[in-house]
This record gives sequence, C-alpha cells and structure tokens, in this order.
Amino acid sequence: MTPDLMHAGAQRLARHEENLANRAQEGTGGSASYGRLIQHPDQLDVSHGRILYLEDVSVSFDGFKAINNLSLDIAPGELRCIIGPNGAGKTTMMDIITGKTRPDSGTVFFGSTIDLLRYNEPQIAQLGIGRKFQKPTVFEQLTVVENLELALKTDKRFQASMRFRLNAEHTDRLLEVMSAIHLQSHARQLAGVLSHGQKQWLEIGMLLMQEPKLLLLDEPVAGMTDHETERTAELFLSLKGKHSLMVVEHDMSFIRAISDIVTVLCDGAVLAQGSLDEVQADERVIEVYLGR
Ligand SMILES: Nc1ncnc2c1ncn2[C@@H]1O[C@H](COP(=O)(O)OP(=O)(O)OP(=O)(O)O)[C@@H](O)[C@H]1O
Ligand SMILES: [Mg+2]
Repeated sequence: MTPDLMHAGAQRLARHEENLANRAQEGTGGSASYGRLIQHPDQLDVSHGRILYLEDVSVSFDGFKAINNLSLDIAPGELRCIIGPNGAGKTTMMDIITGKTRPDSGTVFFGSTIDLLRYNEPQIAQLGIGRKFQKPTVFEQLTVVENLELALKTDKRFQASMRFRLNAEHTDRLLEVMSAIHLQSHARQLAGVLSHGQKQWLEIGMLLMQEPKLLLLDEPVAGMTDHETERTAELFLSLKGKHSLMVVEHDMSFIRAISDIVTVLCDGAVLAQGSLDEVQADERVIEVYLGR
C-alpha cells in the first residue's frame, strides 16, 4: 500500500470513528435529533473536507450484488464524474444516496454528521441533495417561469401552495437560474415546446431553485445535440464550487470537458480513479470498456 493510500485510510477511519461518536451523541434514531437536522440543513458540517462519504456499501437484488463494498467520497464544491459500463451500479449508487434504495450494509454520510441512512427520499431532498433522472420531468403545460416557481414550493400541500408568493429574493434567484440555463428568452413559453436539451436544462434549473448543496445528475447529456452538450458542460463548470456535483455519463467528450477526478465503477465497486487520461490508460479500465 502506498503512503498516500495509508494516509487516506487512516483519515477515513478517523472520520468514521467521529461519525460513530456523533451518532451515539444524537441517540439512536430519536425523533428529536431527526427533526432538528431536517429543520436546519444549513448546519451541514464539511469541515473534514467531505460533503459525501460512502464506505463499504453493499446491496443485493435477488442474490446479485449490484453494489459491492463501495467506498467513495466527494469534496465540497467538487465536480466528480462517474463512468463505467452498463450495469456497473452507477444509478443504484445514486438510488442509495437519495434514499430510494436501502443498502444491506455500509455507511452513507452527508457532511460528517448527517447519516443519510436515517432519512427517507423527501427528507434527503430537503437536506439539500438534488437529483436529476435521465428523462426530463418538467410540467409541459406550464411555462418555463411557472416550472421554476413551482420548484420553490417545497410545501406541496394544495393550501400551502396556493398561499405561496414570490418574494424579491425568489425573483432574483429565478432570474439568475433562468440565465444560467439559457432560457431567458423562453421565459413565457410552454415547457412542452422546448427542445429535449432545453427541457433537461429546465429540470436542472428546477433543482437549482431549491439551492441544493449536492447535485446528482444521471446521464444529463443523453439525447442532446452537440451544441446543447457543450452548453451543458459550460453550465456544470459554472456550478462547481457553489455546489458539489456528481455526474454520471457515457459521453467521453463531455466528461473530458468537465472532469477533474473521474471515478470508474465496475461490478458495484470502484475500479479506478484519477484524471480522465489516467483512467483511460488503465489496463483494467480498457478491458471493461472494450468495444465501447
Ligand atoms: N431494483 C432492482 N432490482 C433488481 N435488479 C436491479 C435493480 N436495480 C438495479 N438492478 C441491477 O443492478 C445492476 C446495476 O444497475 P444500474 O442501473 O445501477 O447500472 P448502471 O451503472 O446505472 O448502468 P447504465 O450505464 O446502463 O445506466 C444491473 O445489473 C441491474 O439490472
Ligand atoms: Mg444507470
């Protein structure tokens, strides 16, 4: 083992022990600590340099290990790219982080104190983790602005939703997001008439309205034109730093445009990690990508 790996391992162990101590302090699933975290997601503690931390996570479906002792962490503000062959477990990993799938074992932390395995899907979204699925899911009968406004209405109950009023801060954010996703000139257009790429941007915009700390994006440029793909790369580069991003993609030119560290998943675990050039030169990676 290299000194780097040993150092990283020691740090990981120390973090894990601290997490366990924090968990013990909070009690084992007491509703008081649970509620407190949900009400104050701004208290996300990233002082240990990690916004997302997975260790030894496994999940099986009918005896098949889709995620197999997966360990991975992401720094605040980082834009991490995840690549890997079909069936590697990329989407399943996002399902676990967002509470859609419960792992059989392992640790999943948001910052150093929030144990994500104690929360359900809507609570995890409320904590500041936004997720974009592959297919755009915008409201086609509403305009671009209405879609973005709707994303602000976190209390979806009808009465609360009817009482909702945009304040100046919301309006500023709406304008900022609309400019970032290049849809200012389409503000009053129905979402249904937008191109596939524009719908994808709108959905990303809807996530941004909620000011997520971590964004998970699963194959965001699939089906986009080359021009839309380039603009999406610019958008993601502009988001990093302010947000942390985990981007799963098969489009290598897109990955090349946005990536710092690339993690290669295969058979539910990390096969390689490094710059795109480094992982592409890795024999094991070449083997699993052969023919792609
Ligand atoms: N709910 C489920 N029930 C049974 N098997 C599942 C379930 N979800 C995922 N799998 C299996 O787990 C494995 C990993 O699937 P996953 O969708 O995570 O792969 P992926 O890396 O996202 O692939 P792709 O690049 O094709 O999107 C696959 O073999 C898949 O069939
Ligand atoms: Mg997938």
